[in-house]
Amino acid sequence: MTRAIYPGSFDPVTFGHLDIIRRSSAIVDELIVGVLNNRCKDPLFTVMERVRMLETVTKEFPNVKVTSFSGLLIDFATETGANLIVRGLRAITDFEYELQMSQTNHIMKPGIDTIFFTTSLEYAYLSSSTVKEVAMYGGDISHFVPESVMDAMNEKFQQKEELS
Ligand code: PNS
Repeated sequence: MTRAIYPGSFDPVTFGHLDIIRRSSAIVDELIVGVLNNRCKDPLFTVMERVRMLETVTKEFPNVKVTSFSGLLIDFATETGANLIVRGLRAITDFEYELQMSQTNHIMKPGIDTIFFTTSLEYAYLSSSTVKEVAMYGGDISHFVPESVMDAMNEKFQQKEELS
């Protein structure tokens, strides 16, 4: 049984992430999307909001589960009995960080490997931070995220505007 973890911040999930989820879930028995609950970063969405958004947009994949985690990724992978970590590579700029992360994780737990999917060309430019920036200034993000995520983002920025 191959159980893989696809970890990330997913703040918010984009079509690029969904592309990796679709392709990686097709080659493993179970894919766990792990949403990092990171106290150091200042996310737009709470971890529960990010988990719910991911659950909505991954409904069509029967072997995909979404859960949050905190602490070290490798500990989360060990606890869940995963034998693979999945990451997407968009460009050469991703490479150094990803290589360092996968090698560090492999030293800590040699039984768990990281596999990389090169992002489909149509999503190679896409990142959650650019999506947030475009949305913050009222731009159209329909090319970047599913409709349910777009609605959640509009609602979030509306709330922020009301509070300020
Ligand atoms: O979507 P992101 O922000 O690029 O995902 C980064 C993530 C969550 C995979 C990475 O920050 C991570 O694994 N964090 C957990 C803490 C950890 O294990 N750090 C050591 C990695 S070598």
